[in-house]
Amino acid sequence: MIITKSAREINLMKEAGRVVGLVFKRLEETIKPGMSTLDIDVIVESTMLENDCIPAEKGYYGYPASACVSVNDTLIHGIPSNKIIIREGDIVSVDIVATYKGYSADACRTYKVGTLTERANRIVDVTKEAFFEALKVVKPGAHIGDISEIVQKYVESHGYNVVREYTGHGIGAHMHEDPSIPNYGKAGTGPVLTPGMALCIEPMVLEGRKDVRVLGDGWTVKSKDGKLTAHYENTVIVTEDGYEIITMYEGEE
Ligand code: MF3
Ligand code: CO
Repeated sequence: MIITKSAREINLMKEAGRVVGLVFKRLEETIKPGMSTLDIDVIVESTMLENDCIPAEKGYYGYPASACVSVNDTLIHGIPSNKIIIREGDIVSVDIVATYKGYSADACRTYKVGTLTERANRIVDVTKEAFFEALKVVKPGAHIGDISEIVQKYVESHGYNVVREYTGHGIGAHMHEDPSIPNYGKAGTGPVLTPGMALCIEPMVLEGRKDVRVLGDGWTVKSKDGKLTAHYENTVIVTEDGYEIITMYEGEE
């Protein structure tokens, strides 16, 4: 069941989204070679708490941290650790969820650390572009499958693959709500968008084969072939005539 949000609920989600943006702004200025992925988690958690938000990932199905920090061949759900050190040339995705007065906003950025290889640079750009391509069709009357098809076609046309086991989702009083938003599919299929829906659109992209494996920690999802991966996500509200992104900071490109 898809739960559309009232104006009051959307305002609470916007405050959560503002804080998510604030975290990204801070991270953009701070991520440097030599930092551990746990250092990133500390920044995420303290920024949220200082801004009256709860880091919703902590404790979610037992998840042990406030952020998912996924480096290079880790696609999603990388558990922050003081043993994972970020190096020059890495691509580091930081996926976070803030909850304000019971309402959540969820987003992810893949950061480029220092000078990248052309390979690494390109997958990060294509992943972000896939999100913005799909966004163009978001308005009342569109189908979820329209988003899915655009993401898949855009990603595959650049020689990459989308993951099948994990999808985007609705969000609100719960981190994961209906509808599921796969990164693959057919236009004209799936639920129809209406004003007040809150959607997490999140291309998760593999440089090589689409297959992934989950590590023994039960969370970390890596590409099976060890090739690069990238992830980009925003929480988007469907409006009367289009959409509004609520998890970008002012001036973010
Ligand atoms: N933020 C992720 C998403 O995009 C979910 C993280 S799972 C958690 O849906 F356990 F870390 F919370
Ligand atoms: Co999400």
